[in-house]
This record gives sequence, C-alpha cells and structure tokens, in this order.
Amino acid sequence: MRVLGIETSCDETGVAIYDSEAGLLAHALYSQIALHAEFGGVVPELASRDHIRKLLPLVSQVLAEAQLVATDIDAVAYTEGPGLAGALMVGACTGRSLAYAWGVPAVGVHHMEGHLLAPMLEVDPPAFPFIALLVSGGHTQLVRVEGIGRYRLLGESLDDAAGEAFDKAAKMLGLGYPGGPAVAKLAATGDPKRFTFPRPMVNRPGLDFSFSGLKTFTLNTVADCRGDGVLSVKDQADIATAFQQAVVDTLVIKCSRALQQENLSRLVIAGGVSANIELRQKLEEKLSKFGGKVYYPRPEFCTDNGAMIAYAGSCRLMGGASEGLSLKVRPRWPMDELPPVPSNQD
Ligand code: KG4
Ligand code: ZN
Repeated sequence: MRVLGIETSCDETGVAIYDSEAGLLAHALYSQIALHAEFGGVVPELASRDHIRKLLPLVSQVLAEAQLVATDIDAVAYTEGPGLAGALMVGACTGRSLAYAWGVPAVGVHHMEGHLLAPMLEVDPPAFPFIALLVSGGHTQLVRVEGIGRYRLLGESLDDAAGEAFDKAAKMLGLGYPGGPAVAKLAATGDPKRFTFPRPMVNRPGLDFSFSGLKTFTLNTVADCRGDGVLSVKDQADIATAFQQAVVDTLVIKCSRALQQENLSRLVIAGGVSANIELRQKLEEKLSKFGGKVYYPRPEFCTDNGAMIAYAGSCRLMGGASEGLSLKVRPRWPMDELPPVPSNQD
C-alpha cells in the first residue's frame, strides 16, 4: 500500500510517500521558521495561510521524486490533531479532497502517534513492548507501548512541555525561535561547573514532570547576571549549559525509572527535543549500564515531518481503519483515546 502523508499541525509543512513494502519513497519539508522568527513564536493565522501556499507544490514534488503519478497512490493520511486548529484544517481539507478526487481512502492520524512510530522508519526499529519518551513543543510524556494504539500513559508534564521550556529559556537568553536548537548550540560552549539548576520532581516518586520551577530559576539567574546591564556571551552560554543539563538529567532519571518500573529495556525517544545530542548521549550512557537500548529517528524525523504521518497512516489503514467523508480536526486529542490496531498475536 502506497500512502501519501501530510503534516500541517504547526509550523512545518511535511509531505511524504510511504510504501508498506518498499519503505519510504520520498519526503519533503517546508519549515516556516523564517516566517515566524520576527514574532518570537508561531503565529497561528500566518501558519495556516502558509500551509495553503506550500502544501500542493510539495505534493507534486514528492510524487515527482518518487517517480509516481496520482493514480499510484492507494491512500492519504493527514494529521488530524493535536495541533493548531486552522493549520490542521488545511491538511485535513487538502488530504480528504485529494483522496476523494483520486477515489482512495483517507485517514486522520494522531500527531504524537506519528512521532512515537517515527523510529520504525530506521534500519534497526524497536520491537514491542517498549517505553516511549515523547518530548515535543507541546508534550512531555512517558508511555508504555505494547503495539500500535496500545498505549498506557505512565507520566507527563504537569505544566510546560520540555520543548516549550527550551523555547522559553531561549527567549530569556535573547536567542531566536525555535529555542531548542539555539540553546543546545550555545550550551555546547558553556562552563558546566558554574551553575547548578534544580532537577524538578526527581526526588518524588512517580513519572510526572514539571518544568515551570526550572523556568523561574532560569529567569532569576538571568536577572542576577544581567544586573543593570546586558547579559554577556559567557553568562548566556553558562546559563544555557546549566539549563540543558537540568532538563536532560531530569528526563534521563525519569526514563530509567520508567524502564525499571515496567521491567523493560527498550526506550524510544521521539519529538523535537529528541534531536538534542546531549539527551541522546546521556540516555545511551545511562541505559548501557543496565543493558538497555535507546532508539530514535534520524534528526530530520525528530521534528515534525510528513514521513511519520504516512507511516502511522499506513499502519492504521492496514489495521482496518476506515473513515467516512466527513471532515474533522482535533486540536486536543489524548493519545490513549486511540483504538488498538490488531496484532499478529490477536
Ligand atoms: O515535535 P516538534 O517539531 O513539534 C511539536 O510537535 O511541538 O518539536 C518542536 C520542539 C520545539 O520546542 C523545539 O525548541 C524543540 O522541539 N527542539 C529541541 C531541539 N530541536 C528542536 N529542543 C532541544 N534540543 C534540540 N536540539
Ligand atoms: Zn511534533
């Protein structure tokens, strides 16, 4: 089955074609970073309008790259939620219309299920069951994954998501949007011994996260260093290092705890923050001590992309998902509401 995947939930327009036998045939991404940069964050209305401009040209581009024509596509998958309502509507309307015109089925995909399954596109995919750490701009969740659609939420952030914390720390440091990559780059140059930031909630039992206290600590440290003047480049770098270390340590501690609690050794990390090199290295170091293994997508599939939506859509469609012609988007959509896909053992 050849599935055209469409991602428009936030500020990236992603399109891809996944073939259930041959694998990923083509993918293309247009990032709106430059469009939103001057506003310091995503402007939803501008995002929707830009998706409209870029989506159909990207569909033509991936068809050409895969050397296919419209009649070669067997189904269309698009992100139904969670995300920005207007941005989701562009992908949903376009995806459903193309499917109707081509006479093929269309399926709405959960964006976080897309992230969670993205490592399945790599050469050494994880076997079920595993623990997934989903770390994006809107979510920080630890999930036990038994199969596709068999998810048990073990813990999540009680306030800001990890990516959101990176974005806010970047703003405090006067860095651009999106903040995660900017903080990570600067953190590589800082002095790790100068500041020690708190590791929120690690001394309490359980698998929930909280990043708002860390945000306040960062803000206070910035204010102390700045005084009446401006933040020096060294201060910026040292704070970025301390902040990143605190987030990474917290995530590593909770991931190890989840693996131990669930008696599992495989960990998937996905979502934008999983592109963070420090996080990958620290997790690998920690898990190697007890024979665990970390799986993650290639860097361009950590952040939003069409390939993960095409893949998740193909799993859902091959698992029997079918939807009528009515169109809906779900800006809020808990992942444990998804139906399970029957596995070979069922
Ligand atoms: O998954 P994603 O592309 O979009 C959402 O679904 O939210 O994640 C975007 C988030 C942003 O908050 C961004 O700052 C963060 O991922 N991010 C990073 C890195 N690359 C992206 N955070 C830390 N380190 C990175 N290298
Ligand atoms: Zn995402």
